[in-house]
Amino acid sequence: LRRIAITTGGGDAPGLNAVIQAVTRAALLRGWTCVGIRDGYDGLLRPDRYRAGDGCIELTAERVEGLAALGGTLLGSTSKGNPFAYPMPQPDGRTALVDRSQDLLDALAREGIDALVAVGGDGSLAIAHQLAQRGLPVVGVPKTIDNDLDGTVMTFGFDTAVAFASECLDRLHTTAASHHRVLTVEVMGRYAGWIALHAGLAGGAHAILLPEIPFDLAPVAELIARREAQGLGYSLVVVAEGAHPRDGERALCGPAEAGHAERLGGMGEQVSQALARLTGKDARCVVLGHLLRGGSPSAFDRVAALRFGAAAVRALAAGQSGVMVALDGRDVRPVPLAEVAGRMKAVPLDGDTLATARDLGVCLGLPQA
Ligand code: F6P
Repeated sequence: LRRIAITTGGGDAPGLNAVIQAVTRAALLRGWTCVGIRDGYDGLLRPDRYRAGDGCIELTAERVEGLAALGGTLLGSTSKGNPFAYPMPQPDGRTALVDRSQDLLDALAREGIDALVAVGGDGSLAIAHQLAQRGLPVVGVPKTIDNDLDGTVMTFGFDTAVAFASECLDRLHTTAASHHRVLTVEVMGRYAGWIALHAGLAGGAHAILLPEIPFDLAPVAELIARREAQGLGYSLVVVAEGAHPRDGERALCGPAEAGHAERLGGMGEQVSQALARLTGKDARCVVLGHLLRGGSPSAFDRVAALRFGAAAVRALAAGQSGVMVALDGRDVRPVPLAEVAGRMKAVPLDGDTLATARDLGVCLGLPQA
């Protein structure tokens, strides 16, 4: 009888619970048993934190009933519990990063667990790869609302985040228009602008600033002025949190403010203040932040997550390890973790989605010739 474990690591994403449900059901149907490790690997590495025996949750059919519709993760998550560099308090009061991978492998063996499904982003998948190299059968499942993981066409959670952000933009159109304002909306996307680009297109943003294109605010200010001259006295600007100006701080701050950008808040707020100064218009910033990660997954994300979870169990049943299940455009199939773990997927600058934005006249903050 096989006994597999599932762990969820890093930032949560709508669809995590659907993966847990699919893995559990597919495992039970094969006659296996399935447990969920709480809070990344902490449930096994920090037994002091949990009530006796509560570091792992036995995943039964009853436990996962109705789970696919729920946001968050039943198991809890953490970005701070890398078993290969685990934060441990030292006698001198400092915290050292200690390799506790053997502790984890021992704990898994004690629990009778012989394989692992690791759901997570770049960090968690890199850990999954290292565990597989230590001989544990491991299958990774890619997860991030940011959609920036390489090797898979899409990650679950992205669709839900984009749908919510575009609904927010719909609402902001009417209030921005009523007050003739420039509204800047900051969305998550530390390294890639997938959410900003897709939500910006869906929500009719007039300018979209992405980490992939260091921006210049002069063309954005000109677009706002052009719209004003056409009688369109308001504009919406979507900014990915990881977007940055082409010439550094100076693009955002007046000379008196240079050197003090950190006082101005996140990139959305900085862009908003700079646009107010450049255009003379009333401007406000809305930061969507963790709202994009919360809530119930869209139907698309539920199906994607169920497919990823089921494919992970199929891969384990086929004797595969050291792989990540990935959407290749049609099917979810295993790809070697060695080829994808830790690799980011940026918005392609020559892709048709960016071309669409350009064709529609959306300003991307591209430097002027
Ligand atoms: O899941 C990735 C992400 O959404 C990033 O876009 C964002 O910077 C990060 O999570 C924030 O996560 P937390 O506040 O949980 O550290």
